[in-house]
Amino acid sequence: MASMTRTRSGTIPSMETSGDEFKDNTIIVVFGASGDLAKKKTYPALFGLYRNGYLPKDVHIVGYARTKMDEEEYHKRTTSYIKNPNNDPEVAAKIEEFKKLSSYVSGNYDDNASFQNLARHMEAIEKGYKTRGVNRLFYLALPPSVFVPVAQHVKVCCYATNGTNRIIVEKPFGKDLQSCRDLLSSLKQSWQEEETYRIDHYLGKEMVKNLLVLRFANVAMGAAWDKHSISSVQISFKEPFGTEGRGGYFDEFGIIRDILQNHLLQVLSILTMERPVSFASEDIRDEKVKVLRSIPPIERKDVLLGQYVGANGKPGYLDDDTVPKGSVCPTFAATTLWINNERWEGVPFILKAGKALNEAKVEIRLQFKDVTSGIFKDISRNELVIRIQPSEAVYLKLNTKTPGYAFRAIPTEMDLTYKRRFTDTNIPEAYEALILDAIKGDHSNFVRDDELDVAWKIFTPILHWIDGREGPRPKPSPYPYGSRGPKELDSFIEKLGYKRGTGEDYSWPTTNVSSL
Ligand code: BG6
Repeated sequence: MASMTRTRSGTIPSMETSGDEFKDNTIIVVFGASGDLAKKKTYPALFGLYRNGYLPKDVHIVGYARTKMDEEEYHKRTTSYIKNPNNDPEVAAKIEEFKKLSSYVSGNYDDNASFQNLARHMEAIEKGYKTRGVNRLFYLALPPSVFVPVAQHVKVCCYATNGTNRIIVEKPFGKDLQSCRDLLSSLKQSWQEEETYRIDHYLGKEMVKNLLVLRFANVAMGAAWDKHSISSVQISFKEPFGTEGRGGYFDEFGIIRDILQNHLLQVLSILTMERPVSFASEDIRDEKVKVLRSIPPIERKDVLLGQYVGANGKPGYLDDDTVPKGSVCPTFAATTLWINNERWEGVPFILKAGKALNEAKVEIRLQFKDVTSGIFKDISRNELVIRIQPSEAVYLKLNTKTPGYAFRAIPTEMDLTYKRRFTDTNIPEAYEALILDAIKGDHSNFVRDDELDVAWKIFTPILHWIDGREGPRPKPSPYPYGSRGPKELDSFIEKLGYKRGTGEDYSWPTTNVSSL
């Protein structure tokens, strides 16, 4: 019988793996294994990859932290956020298998002896390898205060000379341009750029990755992607809960450092960059840096700050015991960025993010210009909405003739909601996608050093103003817990030309046209 070969359409040759993938002889070391990030994100992601067969053959995971605990306690902690809601025996069995490939070493973050002990632990595992050459992936799920000593000790004591080493680091990468440069140069003393994978987990989200395909695989999209068609762009992050116990950390950083300067700016750069020469990681990152360099530092007049206050039985930011008394740290910020290049000149890009708002949503909203006047009266503008979460979707709001006898235009949409359109999809968690990329040696979804530098240049002046380095600190405008944000938000956006739909004829998901 002739075998059936199926050719896959739509492949992206320059994204095929480069051959640097860790296929076997791999140890993944998770530093900060007893912490929150490891428990909530890193281990569940590693398990997701293991379960789906994406970890290297015979991989071993080593947890490392200061906490002294036995293996039982370690396994309990590291599997506590792995979901198995229906007690599926197959998943339960996989969890047991996963525990067997994982061990724990406790030690300090600042002395050679502890790291030498870790090195011996790894060598004992590696003795069992059947082939030569080892792969070590070091994941730093650690607070910034210990980034540098850990990275240095790992290099001195745990760096494999007979194989490949990679290091994954997490934000925050400094607090402003200078501190970021200092941090980067300290890390660079031990680790080369090609070995370093800086996580911004938004780059692992399905819809953010989809931006490259949506934009560059569709002529229809590309044709409208500039100042001639687009009036304004909003990238919004909304969380329905406050700092709740995390106030100590948050207060030191504020919403701009927590969300805008990294997650939303990353989204912006992919949304606005020029078409890369190929989808190879350096080609993509070159284009991202180029567009970011066209953005001047944000001006004070382009900033709206807010802080949530108690409402509907929910506590205000200042009611959180972990927040310093009288803090003026913003928990909401809207900022307008301008891109001084031919494609985007004059189009406002509004990045906004807030804690304790009315819903959980992250989306990109591109509003198009008005149709030429003369034929229609009061017609809605087109909008392209790319919903990053929850429930991934892309929909285009457009006008259509009212079905039936009447001849009017009503707003409706073309809707690509993933859940409805794609069956059997398993969209991986952002961390899964990123750890897999690091295993494959693909840097495209990690932040390069020069990207960070230019990102900080855009935000540092307003951050210094907010920090009170240049006079009195600006006071954020209060907004009730669970609201849409400060009351000034609508006018902040409308003055940039954004037109809110009247909503009169628009209802979602269906419209009854009999009354129109
Ligand atoms: C983190 C921020 O980087 O992103 C948190 O520090 C925020 O404050 C989180 O809650 C949001 O991530 P996600 O994936 O839930 O949108």
